[in-house]
Amino acid sequence: MTLLTVHGVSKSFRGLRAVDDVSFEVAEGSVLGIIGPNGAGKTTLFNLVAGALTPDSGTVHLGGRDITGLPPHRVAAAGMSRTFQLMKPFASMSVLENVSVAVMAGGGSRRTARTAAAEVIERVALGRWRDSRTDGLPTAALKRLELARALAGRPRVLLLDEVLAGLVPAERAPAMDLLEDLRANEGTTLVFVEHIMAAVMRLSDSVLVLDLGRVLTTGRPADVVRDPRVIEAYLGEEPVDAEA
Ligand SMILES: Nc1ncnc2c1ncn2[C@@H]1O[C@H](COP(=O)(O)OP(=O)(O)O)[C@@H](O)[C@H]1O
Ligand SMILES: [Mg+2]
Repeated sequence: MTLLTVHGVSKSFRGLRAVDDVSFEVAEGSVLGIIGPNGAGKTTLFNLVAGALTPDSGTVHLGGRDITGLPPHRVAAAGMSRTFQLMKPFASMSVLENVSVAVMAGGGSRRTARTAAAEVIERVALGRWRDSRTDGLPTAALKRLELARALAGRPRVLLLDEVLAGLVPAERAPAMDLLEDLRANEGTTLVFVEHIMAAVMRLSDSVLVLDLGRVLTTGRPADVVRDPRVIEAYLGEEPVDAEA
């Protein structure tokens, strides 16, 4: 069953078409990887899908419901959460408090928020940092906190914007295990933007390639990485990191 349908979305910034007529569908329980050079429009696309920006044209449907232009908290209430490429937790609050706020923002009650937050924190293996202030956290823990905040609203669809970036190779495998586990054991549908190709290859059922705001191609991971147009789009970029 199709859970997320994005149809013909476009967004321009002062004449620049950052996202240009992008369409795709995501089946419930599946994983879509989105790749593309820097500036291709990946983060803008997430902003359009998750409600941080309103598309100039096009529609977004979640579970058959038109959510185009709804603000982020209503998109979250409809079942879709996202992480931010640039993380911004409340610095003076603890991990537990940050995730509790996210639980309440997702409609959870104040009374049970801390219990629910503690469960999510265990889920993403952040237990040892639970009572620490977030301004002292290492990058890997901040990334997990970002994931925990997005999971706090119990989303059906999770949009992940470069959650592996900034992790050293030894930290990536456990992060990927966590994403696989979410999909396998909770049926969470994942859409993730990622530069680390080993992760894209391992996690994705299908891959969508954005270039200059447009869909260059979409298909099975093994086919997409062999596509000469995809290789061409990446020329001039930093070498694609194959480590995992
Ligand atoms: N708020 C904004 N105002 C103006 N231009 C923007 C804004 N957000 C993104 N852009 C531009 O849109 C293009 C796509 O950016 P972005 O979606 O961040 O790409 P990616 O995530 O693929 O690196 C870039 O040229 C970027 O400079
Ligand atoms: Mg981006």
